[in-house]
Amino acid sequence: MIRLGVLTISDRAAHGEAEDRSGPLIAQTLVQQLAAEVVVQAVVPDERPSIENLLVQWADGGQVDLVLTTGGTGFAPRDVTPEATISVIQRRAPGFAEAMRAASMRITPHAMLSRATAGIRGRTLIINLPGSPKAVAENLAVILPALSHAVELLQQEETPAAYEHALPGEHQPR
Ligand code: MTE
Repeated sequence: MIRLGVLTISDRAAHGEAEDRSGPLIAQTLVQQLAAEVVVQAVVPDERPSIENLLVQWADGGQVDLVLTTGGTGFAPRDVTPEATISVIQRRAPGFAEAMRAASMRITPHAMLSRATAGIRGRTLIINLPGSPKAVAENLAVILPALSHAVELLQQEETPAAYEHALPGEHQPR
């Protein structure tokens, strides 16, 4: 089962000036389609410290396998979600954003305006989605089929002993 964190990044939603419809949509979709469990959910303004602190707390707490963020990926001066994400990940996972932008380009040329990124911190995968519910639905549909396997791979045991016996050039066990 995927243990999910959902982070909505929006000044207006954080200040109660707009309803957060994208966070609940993400949660509902993952619960219905992947039987995920929503462990944590929050709304924060478009500010790097707020975003980074929560991402680190959730990933390092060991309670979430996957964090999906929504919002703050565009070109507006306050859109800083990709920068916050890049600053906390340890390994890049470019395939998700590549796939989302490629598929979204068939729907709208504005797909080029999403700077969404993805990466891994410890055993937690963090993926940015754009902010509107429409964009969330369209982009989620693209990545949904790969999420369970991604999380499964991140949960694999580390087996240092297996590497000790490998000869140079020999197939390295994963
Ligand atoms: N991708 C899809 N599939 N559908 C959309 O409607 N909107 C785009 C883009 N990606 C969109 C999309 C727009 S208009 C913007 S500005 C960027 O996502 C960034 O959105 P964000 O700033 O809300 O994160």
